[in-house]
This record gives sequence, C-alpha cells and structure tokens, in this order.
Amino acid sequence: MSGPSGPRILAVETSCDETGVAVVVGGRRIEANQVATQVALHARTGGIVPEVAARQQLGWIVPTARAALDEAAIGWEDLDAVAVTYGPGLIGSLLVGVNVAKAVAEVRGLPLVGVNHIEGHIYANWLTDAAAGEPLPAEPPFPLLCLVVSGGHTQLVLMEDHGRYRLLGQTADDAAGEAFDKVGRLLGLPYPGGPAISAAAADATPATRFPRARTDGAYDFSFSGLKTAVLREVEAYRQRGEPIPVEPLAAAFEEAVVDALVTKTVAAAGDFGVAAVALGGGVAANRALRSELRDRLGGSGLPLLVPPPEWCTDNGAMIGAAAGFRLAAGDRAGPDLEAIPNLALPWLDR
Ligand code: KG4
Ligand code: ZN
Repeated sequence: MSGPSGPRILAVETSCDETGVAVVVGGRRIEANQVATQVALHARTGGIVPEVAARQQLGWIVPTARAALDEAAIGWEDLDAVAVTYGPGLIGSLLVGVNVAKAVAEVRGLPLVGVNHIEGHIYANWLTDAAAGEPLPAEPPFPLLCLVVSGGHTQLVLMEDHGRYRLLGQTADDAAGEAFDKVGRLLGLPYPGGPAISAAAADATPATRFPRARTDGAYDFSFSGLKTAVLREVEAYRQRGEPIPVEPLAAAFEEAVVDALVTKTVAAAGDFGVAAVALGGGVAANRALRSELRDRLGGSGLPLLVPPPEWCTDNGAMIGAAAGFRLAAGDRAGPDLEAIPNLALPWLDR
C-alpha cells in the first residue's frame, strides 16, 4: 500500500527512441530511473526510422522494467499504480509501453494513469532524488511559465495550476530539437545534432549573425528559415572550395536558436507576471540555453527551474511525476486506453 509520502508508481515512457521505466513515489521522489537509448543505432541512419524504433522498444521494455525494479530494490507486489505515456509520439513505439502498462495494471489489480509526454517534460521540474526520509525541496510555484523544447515540440506554456495549461506560443514549422538535428546533419556532425552542435559550439566564435525569424504571434517561433540560412552558408563555402568552418557555424546557429527562445520566454515572463520560469524537453539540456536564460532573467529576480540534463531528455521519471498529480486528482485510465500519436495538452482558452 502507499506509504506516508504517496503512492509508488511504475512509470513507462516509450514515445520515441528511448525506453524509460522509473519508480517514483508521490510524484516527486525517484527510486529508480532506467533509460535504454537507441542513439547509437539511429546514428547509423542519421535519424530515427520509426519501425526500427518500435522493434527496439519491444526488445528493451521488459529488461528495462526489470532493471528499474532492481534499482529500487522492490518487487511487482510493492507497486501502487502504473503510469504510461499515451501520446504524443510514434505510434509503434507508444503501443509497446501502453500495452505493457495495461498488462501490469491488470495482472496486479493496480490503477492505471495515461500521461501526456509534454506534461511529463514539464513535471520533470517536480522531481527530486532525495532519499526516503529526507525533506523534499519546495514545489515549483504557480503561475509557472514553461518552455518545452524537444525534438518534436517547441511550446511556451503558462501553467496556472496542476493540469491547467494555456498555450502562449509554439513553433510554426520545425521544433527546436528538430532544427538542431537537421543542422547537425548539414554540418556533418553525428546524430543527434543537439549535443553534437552544443559540443562543437562550446569554444567557437560565431561565424556570422543569422537573421532572427519574424512570427505571427508574439510568443511563436520559427526555425526552418534559420536551417535554410545555414544550408546556404555551407553551400557558399563549398562553391568557393573552402573548408566549412563547422564549429563557428554551429556557434552561430546555436546563438540564433537560443536568442529566439530566450527573448520570447523573458517577454512572456514579464507580460504574464509569472512566479517562476521552468525549462523542459531534450533541448533544455543545452548549456547555452540554460545559462543565457539564467542571465537574461537575472534582473527580474524570477527563479529559473532547470532539471538536470538526464531528466530533460526522455525518461520514465518525468512520467511518474506527472502521474503523481493526475492520480491525486482522481485520474484513472481503463483497459481501453489508446495510444494517440498527435495528443495535445488539454488547453484552456486564451
Ligand atoms: O525530449 P527529447 O529527449 O525527445 C523528444 O521528445 O523529442 O528531445 C530530443 C531532442 C533531440 O532533437 C536532441 O538533438 C535534442 O533534444 N537535444 C539537445 C541537447 N540534448 C538533446 N539539443 C541541444 N542541446 C543539447 N545539449
Ligand atoms: Zn520528449
């Protein structure tokens, strides 16, 4: 049964190319967080092949769950609930986690909670690895401005309370992570482009200043023009028969992406009078983004919440965190829970 600190949740994340299984207590305390990554496999094809990703999920899901229980030093009988990402994501990958979570919930007679992957990225800010018995750090305050930047999404979200979200802006074309991955390929860097560009840019001086995109909404983003601008630069060097300055171009690209993300986030933080700003999603692991946002929020005195990099990229613990609050609110999924590739957050009207 659930202890004084809340239910012990087995949390499953298989929306894309990481197989994540975690054990999270009360939506906050991580007891185990196992992630099997397919990065090396997809590096060979320069990107994700959905069917390959789904087959890998099928192979990894049970060993990863076993590893999570072992890490937490518990058995199946010690679980109080099961949570799983049911969208958005790749259908074949999602189906693996959803089916396993349903089966565990049915066999053990446990409540099942379906979690939106984006909500999981936001709730990574509630996680802690404080040991049992240690006091938990304070929860993020509301209203909370969340910048969610992943391979599939770039959204500026005003979170008014648990489960209450307003969409302030989003990308009109490529997601920020997608732009990193595409530009990484253009520059001949290994997959995934995000960490590779970040490493290449670390000690470089930007080769140029790429123009910033104009967008319809004040808090919207657009990255496809920037990707084309990088391509033109690369082609110009090629035509002149000159070597491509990979590091300085990576730095110029990263500077432009970070500037766009930070400028709009800082503006929204002021316009909506938020209590804090939080980052989530794989691109939130980016060091330049983390430090630039911290610098430019500095004057406002607003707290900036940034999960450690391993909780920014896809993992099961963030799903367990969101599930903790959904469970407490009485959310339950049945055996008819479906995988929904284009699942959106339940937006409030603006
Ligand atoms: O959230 P995530 O793990 O999966 C999705 O939900 O998409 O995000 C993956 C994305 C990839 O595009 C990857 O290139 C990017 O996050 N990423 C980074 C960094 N680490 C991962 N982008 C920039 N800098 C990084 N350090
Ligand atoms: Zn993600």
